[in-house]
Amino acid sequence: MRRTAVVKINMETILEKIIEKPDLHVRWLNTLSFLEHVGSRKILKTQSSDYTDPNTLRHAAEEARHAYFFKKVIDKIQPELPDYSRDNLLCGFSANRYFQSLDAMVHKKMKNQKDAARLCYLYVTTLVEERAGWLYPIYQKALEKMNSPVNISGIIQEEERHLEEMHNGLEDMDKNILDEFLREEERYFQRYYESLSKYLAEREVYA
Ligand SMILES: [Fe+2]
Ligand SMILES: [Fe+2]
Repeated sequence: MRRTAVVKINMETILEKIIEKPDLHVRWLNTLSFLEHVGSRKILKTQSSDYTDPNTLRHAAEEARHAYFFKKVIDKIQPELPDYSRDNLLCGFSANRYFQSLDAMVHKKMKNQKDAARLCYLYVTTLVEERAGWLYPIYQKALEKMNSPVNISGIIQEEERHLEEMHNGLEDMDKNILDEFLREEERYFQRYYESLSKYLAEREVYA
């Protein structure tokens, strides 16, 4: 999908600045852990009836493991692992709003459709996986450039597989709706990105 080169270059710079400052990097990792955890919980919520789909259960389990991974990798930077309270996240309010906005937007559009819960799962997850597929490789590149002990290559591989599974699940679906959702997602992510840039500029980390 299309992403503006400017945002990509800025994101690389932002992430390098974050990695450089251990307190910010810990909060960034904790934010990713939080979002993975929210993702896992949202997926599991779609599996609360008698019918459960084994692949979806595996997906939820893998997202929960990603949440654990991002939490646990913090101890390469500092010994105590932070909780998910707002001050321990990086623009936590905006990060959470990003995910909740996506969810609300897709649910509103799909509410009258047959099998709405499954469709929402497929669409929301596709949007999040698309974003992870864009963001995580930029982050990995920045980690390597800054010689960080953190490495997320394994996570990137799993996210690629998740995205492929989502695309297979949506194969017969209306591509126009997906495009519309992707445009909205871009807007929500832009909002998070702007909060992050503003916060870092205020801290004079990134100006
Ligand atoms: Fe994940
Ligand atoms: Fe995933």
